[in-house]
Amino acid sequence: MRAARNILAEQQPLLFVKNRAKRHRSRASLLDELAAFRQFRTRTEVTSLGEGEDAVPVFVNEFWTSKQRAASSLHEISYRACFKPQLPRFFIERLTAANDMVYDPFLGRGTTMIEAALLGRRVAGCDINPLSSILTAPRLHPPTVRDVRARLANLDWNYEDELNEELLTFYHPDTLREICALRSHLLLRDADHTASEVDDWIRMVATNRLTGHSAGFFSVYTLPPNQALTPKRQQKINEIRKQVPPRRGVPDLIIRKTESLLQTVSEFDRSRLSEAASNALLLARSSDRTPEIKDNSVDLIVTSPPFLDVVDYAADNWLRCWFNGIEENNIDIWTFRKPSEWVRVMERVFVELRRVLKRGAYIAFEVGEVRRGKLRMEELVVPAAKAAKFIPVLVLINSQVFTKTSNCWGVTNQIAGTNTNRVILLQKPRTQ
Ligand SMILES: C[S@@+](CC[C@H](N)C(=O)[O-])C[C@H]1O[C@@H](n2cnc3c(N)ncnc32)[C@H](O)[C@@H]1O
Repeated sequence: MRAARNILAEQQPLLFVKNRAKRHRSRASLLDELAAFRQFRTRTEVTSLGEGEDAVPVFVNEFWTSKQRAASSLHEISYRACFKPQLPRFFIERLTAANDMVYDPFLGRGTTMIEAALLGRRVAGCDINPLSSILTAPRLHPPTVRDVRARLANLDWNYEDELNEELLTFYHPDTLREICALRSHLLLRDADHTASEVDDWIRMVATNRLTGHSAGFFSVYTLPPNQALTPKRQQKINEIRKQVPPRRGVPDLIIRKTESLLQTVSEFDRSRLSEAASNALLLARSSDRTPEIKDNSVDLIVTSPPFLDVVDYAADNWLRCWFNGIEENNIDIWTFRKPSEWVRVMERVFVELRRVLKRGAYIAFEVGEVRRGKLRMEELVVPAAKAAKFIPVLVLINSQVFTKTSNCWGVTNQIAGTNTNRVILLQKPRTQ
């Protein structure tokens, strides 16, 4: 603990904000809390990233559990490289108060936005892929199961056009007919702006049910739902497993998934979501240019950028994009092979995030494992953030399987069975 406080005291004068202790909380009290943290009975290990004046304290512990039941069922929409809701919750609870504005510039499936809304915060999100809004917006105003049942019962499930041969590697012909009927209906409603909130919900659930590895999905056994294979590779899997796509009932599966998503959603949750939805900002554009967001308006950013080229979001989402009429190859989703290219664009993002953040406010910036743990992305983030005049406050490593620090930090990450999140906490200076 002392080590962490000293590192901080040497390089950054401690700041306190009158009457807003909970909001832009002092760095000192946060460091104290992290160092003394023992909620899951393990002690925090404190080390540092860098040396001397540039050293940033690193805290390693199990700061949140990722057990399924610990979060709202509403989050259970799969997405590549998404984080657990416990991560944004940890920072939102500590660094904001009710009605503060929480923003995620790389929204993905909307974990930060939904969690912030459930916690009674105002919300904003941005992702270059429009799929992100399709997966997030409907959960800000969830319908009842009854509404969904009624809407599905009223739909015309006939589809007379010819079926796409490639898609038949995933689906039984009658299932594919239902998928195509639903798709046509939703695209038509979209085009004439008559889609209701229930239609949007159905579209989100159907998008989530397109492919997966259990009978809860429309497809034959394939990869997990957030990674669609090419038809060619699916054909190979079908041959190897000697499988033929089984008949799956599209409306029934949409109802089942709706029931499970709404399982823990209370009336209280609904009122908070609806409050957040009333002034939520959802952008489908690149997060380095977001003129819709006012200067000095955001109280906290919790986000996770694309990790170089670790995930191919366009390829993974091709089937989801097809269903929603999105041309995935026309979206400039950032993937970079070279760390230097990634740093260059992140510098631009940090300049934009600095503009929208209030003075003294924080960014919790989560980075993942790349190059089998050989490249620690926090080492790229710190200089990029400093170039945009952010203060690197600390690195927090949430480790589920707690071993020695040296193991948790960079080494154990390569071993199956551990689950770490690495979050760099940055602060916008209170003075310009
Ligand atoms: C690691 S994921 C975020 C996952 C998110 N934290 C969640 O829980 O779902 C990174 C996201 O960045 C998005 N992205 C890629 N390039 C972008 C850009 N230029 N501007 C905004 N978002 C971008 C991708 O579409 C992807 O959804």
